[in-house]
Amino acid sequence: MAMAKRCSRTRLAASLAVLVAAAVSAALLLQSQGGQEAEEDVILTVYRTDFCGCCKLYEDYLRSSGVEFRTVVVEPEALERLRMALGIPSEMHSCHTSTLGPYFVEGHVPVEAIEKLLEERPMLGGIALPGMPPGSPGMGGAKTAPLQIYAVRDGSAFLWLAL
Ligand code: CU
Repeated sequence: MAMAKRCSRTRLAASLAVLVAAAVSAALLLQSQGGQEAEEDVILTVYRTDFCGCCKLYEDYLRSSGVEFRTVVVEPEALERLRMALGIPSEMHSCHTSTLGPYFVEGHVPVEAIEKLLEERPMLGGIALPGMPPGSPGMGGAKTAPLQIYAVRDGSAFLWLAL
């Protein structure tokens, strides 16, 4: 039983490594093509664990907002490795990580911010709404403060949008 679990985890890690490599080569390809990427490269991909309820509620939010996305369920360790590979600083972490073309979108980020990213195509690694703030999409509750969405460039985070 324990053996089987270890095996599947190794397989998962291997397939995740392939995914990350694919994402990196896709990003490089995008640069060489001057941003004229194929439509399929900009589908949001949500990486989450199987047991996180608010991640599933975030997906419900995306669905009801008409955002096309796909889901990859991973082990927590694989999610951590993905964040490291994407260069997301630890203070920016939330409970799930998405990719969108060459960008990452970390956490419970509102659709407005994702649309801004797609429209402006800034020179960034990605954007993040750190933690799991109340009132953010999928978290429920009421906002206690504007949602502070950060941009990450070369490992440094700065405030990008408040919603
Ligand atoms: Cu979650």
